[in-house]
Amino acid sequence: MHPILAASLGLLLGLGIAVLMTRVQVRRSLAKARAAERRARAAERLAELGAMTGGLAHEIKNPLSTIGLNAQLIAEGLDDLADSRPLDPADKQRLARRAAALRREVERLRGILTDFLTYAGELRLDLKPIDLNEVVADLVEFLSPQAQQQGVRLRADPAPGPMSANADAGLMKQAVLNLMLNALQAMAGMPSEAAASRELIVRTARASDPDGQATLQIHVIDTGPGIAPDVLPKLFTPYFTTKAGGSGLGLPTTRRIVEAHQGRIDVHSEPGKGSDFVIALPA
Ligand SMILES: Nc1ncnc2c1ncn2[C@@H]1O[C@H](COP(=O)(O)OP(=O)(O)OP(=O)(O)O)[C@@H](O)[C@H]1O
Ligand SMILES: [Mg+2]
Repeated sequence: MHPILAASLGLLLGLGIAVLMTRVQVRRSLAKARAAERRARAAERLAELGAMTGGLAHEIKNPLSTIGLNAQLIAEGLDDLADSRPLDPADKQRLARRAAALRREVERLRGILTDFLTYAGELRLDLKPIDLNEVVADLVEFLSPQAQQQGVRLRADPAPGPMSANADAGLMKQAVLNLMLNALQAMAGMPSEAAASRELIVRTARASDPDGQATLQIHVIDTGPGIAPDVLPKLFTPYFTTKAGGSGLGLPTTRRIVEAHQGRIDVHSEPGKGSDFVIALPA
């Protein structure tokens, strides 16, 4: 082949490849931009839905209060009615039972909405320097009667010195309380032979996260039935529950509170031995 022809062919080939590569690159960045746009739209829609459902829950709560109040008035009115005219005691009892059922269901709905609002609503943190050891001591004292009644040995195991964190004391208490209640509930369902070993320990410790950052940990450790490996990934999914009266919002709420504090929550569990839920906050 003539050298000029060969050179021209080489040049053309090089040009072709360059054009092709540019096209592939453009297509790739376009796809990336489109995916980012889709993600941004999805996030926007999710935020919108969150605000809407939060609003909806509030809207339902108001008439619910009215219904609850009226159920109570009906129950009270029954007594007055019995005074003013003869009323068959069986009829009165039936009406009283219906009024009580009405109030019970109203209370249940109110509970569901309150849980939902805590989980889905806006979290406003009131950050102050607090001692996590104090938070734990308060909670242990608060839950002691319930633990004792259940035959569970409950104790705090604090790290020495104050465990100072910049946190919202009320929300942090709620986060740890959810874990402690779960632990007590998990041990309540155990056979009575296991009673002697039922223990709930709330331990604080200083540690460092995988990036080497100093963290303050709160461990909620129980000697309950533990959690099967296939259940572990579902734990923090809203509405996942294995309890008859559970909302399944306890753990998601705890995680939301912890993450709002730039912390994280992990679970270590061994079926048949127990579980260790660990909250880690930046020190
Ligand atoms: N310490 C634990 N030991 C064993 N299982 C647990 C433990 N903590 C949580 N779980 C499991 O995780 C599920 C979800 O817990 P979560 O706190 O979110 O909801 P819940 O306790 O079922 O309901 P609620 O918190 O509204 O009372 C529980 O139903 C239970 O099956
Ligand atoms: Mg719970």
